[in-house]
Amino acid sequence: MARKKIALIGAGNIGGTLAHLAAQKELGDIVLFDVVDGVPQGKALDLSQCGPVEGFDAKITGTNDYADLAGADVVIVTAGVPRKPGMSRDDLLGINLKVMKAVGEGIKNNCPDAFVICITNPLDAMVWALREFSGLPANKVVGMAGVLDSARFTTFLAWEFGVSVRDVNTFVLGGHGDTMVPVVQYSTVNGIPVPDLIKMGLTTQEKIDAIVARTRSGGGEIVGLLKTGSAFYAPAASAIAMAEAYLNDQKRILPSAAYVNGEYGVNDLYVGVPVMIGAGGVEKVIEIELDEEARNNLNVSVEAVKELLVACKGIDPSLA
Ligand code: APR
Repeated sequence: MARKKIALIGAGNIGGTLAHLAAQKELGDIVLFDVVDGVPQGKALDLSQCGPVEGFDAKITGTNDYADLAGADVVIVTAGVPRKPGMSRDDLLGINLKVMKAVGEGIKNNCPDAFVICITNPLDAMVWALREFSGLPANKVVGMAGVLDSARFTTFLAWEFGVSVRDVNTFVLGGHGDTMVPVVQYSTVNGIPVPDLIKMGLTTQEKIDAIVARTRSGGGEIVGLLKTGSAFYAPAASAIAMAEAYLNDQKRILPSAAYVNGEYGVNDLYVGVPVMIGAGGVEKVIEIELDEEARNNLNVSVEAVKELLVACKGIDPSLA
């Protein structure tokens, strides 16, 4: 069987980390693409030289030519500009929309059968625009946000309870912004819902509220500390989990920015919902029962995403 091909569009902090993880896991051969000459080539060479030390054979190449994406099975998109301190994800809209146009066309012309995972922010708008520009079926274009946001929520809960992160399971739904919805009712420690743990006196509602707030601003907290860029290790790890689910037909249930049409009362929009990812791409949107608070929060989040799409259409009339 031929080796799989993973194309990474954007060879910055996340792109480089994605390449390293994909190589370590031998997901396939890797092509790093960037508009800046030398950066993808240099990173590819550096990463190739990890092979003998770490024991992987993945072939890693760098390019500035979209033609090198030909035949890619998975494309992960981080091309664009990351947040600087004080910038919201939405400030990035105009700049990154243009980037999505170029990337979407590059995918359409060179690897239209790929499974595409978008990471570029503002995520829910960029993944929608990328689907529009690429013309790929909606089940083959998905955004990475929920896995990362849930990983943040899980980390903070594990710290609070003093337990292994492996025993904490959380769900974060909605848009990838300040209106995201960490769903406490479905968050558990080895199956025990967090509301029950509050009743058992193992934590307090106030502490959980603070953890929810910290999760919502989890990306901004890191931007504030780094000062020159945004998070990259956990975003890369999260996208790799989604790529593995597709490549290995794992049927994983992962919160993702997926195309929703009817589910959750939402029409024709990309927003964070639990989905099943397998060899068919996004094989199913899973509609879970939400309590009133979570549903209201999800509606607020959906409205925020809709506003972004209106702004996108204003910037690029071809999207209207
Ligand atoms: N095509 C390809 N690559 C591009 C393009 C383009 N049109 N425009 C910019 N890039 C490249 C940059 O040259 C840079 O190498 O995208 C890369 C982005 O890398 P970083 O600046 O290091 O950003 P990173 O931390 O990887 O985040 C990328 O993911 O989380 C989001 O908000 C974040 O939108 C940002 C993206």
